[in-house]
Amino acid sequence: MWKPDRQNKKPLYEQIADHIEQRISYGEFPPGSLLPSERKLAEQLGVNRSTVILAFAELRSMGIIESRSGSGTCVSNTKWGATPKHTPNWKRYAEGGSFLPNLPFLRRIREALNQNTSLIDFASGELSGDLAPLDEITKLMSEHPFPSYLGYVNPQGYVPLRQALVTYLDQYRGIRTTESSILITSGSQQSLYLITQCLLSPGDAVAIEDPSYSYSLPMFQSAGLRLFRLPVDREGVCPEEIRSLHKKHRIKMIFTNPNFQNPTGTLLSEQRRSQLLEIASELGLPIVEDDPYSLTDYEGIPRPPLKSIDPIGSIIYIGSFSKIAASGLRIGWMVAPHSIVERLADARQQMDFGLSVIPQQVAAQFLKSSYFEPHLERLRMQLLFKRDLLVEALNKELPDLIQFNIPQGGHHMWCKLISAVNDSKLLEEAIKQGVVFVPGSVYGSDSGFVRFTFARAKAEEIGPGIVRFAKALRELIR
Ligand SMILES: Cc1ncc(COP(=O)(O)O)c(C=O)c1O
Repeated sequence: MWKPDRQNKKPLYEQIADHIEQRISYGEFPPGSLLPSERKLAEQLGVNRSTVILAFAELRSMGIIESRSGSGTCVSNTKWGATPKHTPNWKRYAEGGSFLPNLPFLRRIREALNQNTSLIDFASGELSGDLAPLDEITKLMSEHPFPSYLGYVNPQGYVPLRQALVTYLDQYRGIRTTESSILITSGSQQSLYLITQCLLSPGDAVAIEDPSYSYSLPMFQSAGLRLFRLPVDREGVCPEEIRSLHKKHRIKMIFTNPNFQNPTGTLLSEQRRSQLLEIASELGLPIVEDDPYSLTDYEGIPRPPLKSIDPIGSIIYIGSFSKIAASGLRIGWMVAPHSIVERLADARQQMDFGLSVIPQQVAAQFLKSSYFEPHLERLRMQLLFKRDLLVEALNKELPDLIQFNIPQGGHHMWCKLISAVNDSKLLEEAIKQGVVFVPGSVYGSDSGFVRFTFARAKAEEIGPGIVRFAKALRELIR
């Protein structure tokens, strides 16, 4: 009896859809015949019913099967009968376009989390529900009425939020700016998207950190960019190589995440900050400073951003609410020269007419409120607590098998596995044991590294999650 292959990179539902299509074309299910029910197929194939529902939806979209209410799912007569009607080949369309799909490991993790809600999640890069300022936001929403106008807002962003950010950036990040140099985006992700799509052209060379969050984003490849690696060590990114890379490849832009970098958790040293700025200004290169984690500094004294010590205006600074408050609000911001902000605001107006005004209003009120500072203090304490739980669990369960540096801020812990294991096998075994993490290769590193995010799991899940991971790892290196 055929069963889908869980080691295969192709999603289970696609494998099932292909298998059923093959059985139909071999005549096992003739046109008009009834297929087994979703429940029965799920049982036979050893998958969740939702996976079979997805496979049927795929086949339905291709016109291969049809559902008749009350009488189940049948092989389509029109597609396979004498007078075929031509349904569009949706699969080919879905594989078309210039936007690459997400990386297979990330899709697999998402699928596993959707299928099994009891998995302990060390993969999602966000805060757990109890760390978000929900009570505070609820209070603010009840105290403040909706904005008086619910039409399209300025594509650069809701003015009161940009005004609140001017104060926030000055107070918390030492960045002096004006509302006209700020663009509100749907998370920092949209800032990265706008930059890669609108300020760069296919074939342009960019320098990115290795490993880095950017590698997890096929968005860079979708924009046709050529990526060149700058190694990251304990002091953060090494800017030395920029000069030679520029000479060889004409680097157009540098992307960096200097504070509690995703995935390594490193903080860029003072010396490297000056060096990076010096090299960029010498070569006339812009730097994109992606800074979503700085306010999670556990000591509460975040390093000044490059933007605050940038003497000649070569930095595009990106910030976000996601890692310090709530990723679901989708509030991010960019601070850049006005000409850049104007250009990107025009592009984003063509894409979506701007972000909804409601989360922008919530964010503006929260930033201005007396709740913001105590929230940050609590957040830092809780993240430190979770980090310590993770360190303790790793030292207890895997002292002989894993090495790591302890991050002083942020959400992530980067670990090196002492014995070589196959990333894919380790992930599948971990899913079997009930835990997910992100294999390091997603971020551009060689295999043998893992990223644990400790912000997303509940505190009481961290120890048991590492017990499960340790079981998976030991299973593979036995
Ligand atoms: C370094 C970095 N930049 C940007 C993002 C995107 O975050 P968001 O769009 O939620 O602000 C992430 C998310 O993990 C990140 O780690």
